[in-house]
Amino acid sequence: MPTEFISVTFPNASTELNPLENPALDPQFLERYARSLDDYGFNYTLIPYDSASFDPFTIGATVAAHTKNIKIIIALRPNTIYPTVAAKSLATLDQLSGGRVVVHFIAGGSDEEQAKEGDFLDKRQRYERQEEYIRILRRVWQSSEPFDFDGRYYQFKQFHSRVRPVNGTIPVSVGGSSDDAYRIGGALADIFGLWGEPLAETKQQIDRIHAEAARAGRKDRPRIWVTFRPIVAETDELAWAKAHHTLDLLKENRAKGLGKVPPAAPSPQNIGSQRLLEIASRGDVHDRALWYPTVTATNARGASTALVGSPRTIADSIIDYVDLGADLISIRGYDNLNDAVDYGRYILPLVRADLAAREAPQQAVA
Ligand SMILES: Cc1cc2nc3c(=O)[nH]c(=O)nc-3n(C[C@H](O)[C@H](O)[C@H](O)COP(=O)(O)O)c2cc1C
Repeated sequence: MPTEFISVTFPNASTELNPLENPALDPQFLERYARSLDDYGFNYTLIPYDSASFDPFTIGATVAAHTKNIKIIIALRPNTIYPTVAAKSLATLDQLSGGRVVVHFIAGGSDEEQAKEGDFLDKRQRYERQEEYIRILRRVWQSSEPFDFDGRYYQFKQFHSRVRPVNGTIPVSVGGSSDDAYRIGGALADIFGLWGEPLAETKQQIDRIHAEAARAGRKDRPRIWVTFRPIVAETDELAWAKAHHTLDLLKENRAKGLGKVPPAAPSPQNIGSQRLLEIASRGDVHDRALWYPTVTATNARGASTALVGSPRTIADSIIDYVDLGADLISIRGYDNLNDAVDYGRYILPLVRADLAAREAPQQAVA
């Protein structure tokens, strides 16, 4: 399968560099952003989940209505919706969009954040519940007969859905970097999502996921998704100047209480963020152009590892990860819409051309 690109959908023009105060959803912005991703050839867009933010399903339906090809990845926390309802909501959106839906599972990385919506399980239990949840969704999508379910977290009788996914099922993605994430994602996921770590650490994570897939008796493996926040400019030198300006703004906004995390945030509980902060403590630049000060500045809240350079440097860095086994590359910037357009114009074509050239038959030398 060819390498594919993922972006993230934003509901309005607010960015981490220029945060608007309590911004409402901006339908015109959403349409323009979604159309830009579709026109510039992104393959997927993630609609993220946060306890305080907009509903991913209605945003996803809007993105579907304004686009033709891009696939819509709905981020889903199992505590927020009963699995039979989620199975139908996802299948409904899948039919509306002509089979363009993917679901991305979030077990929940913070007890405090989970408690806001009534979830008091610990992280081990949350992953255990997620495993049950994924099994239920697949069964709902595939069963032609009503069935009972008697699990630890969910019990129901004689459920049947008439809402079937267009392609028989909907791809399931799992994200996280803890042992439970590797185990459940390795065993059950079609796609496994990772944040951007250096090549050596990414290789370790991919090996763990593959080992868990084999341990579960799978013949196939989850496709690997790796996430970056590229800071691109015409030359490497200009990109580094832009990177330092970006970092200054992230720090200033956080100090003013306008950042994604408060100035004195506690250490994150999720292993993925802990890993990023540990790598950041070992150096600012890793491999070709992977830059970590943006991780420290945001307490590793969400994907925060930058790639800095010219389109050529960024494309070469992305291809390093493709060679390592990454199938899906998520790139989103700090200036959301403009960066998506820049990536669409300068990075996607470069990576795709380089990979296509490798596939082309070698010219005979005269
Ligand atoms: C690619 C990717 C996307 C993610 N999207 C979200 C999201 O939209 N909302 C959210 O709360 N957490 C999101 N997460 C965070 C993790 O799923 C979450 O912290 C995880 O359940 C626990 O992490 P751990 O297994 O590393 O400890 C995402 C993680 C990855 C790798």
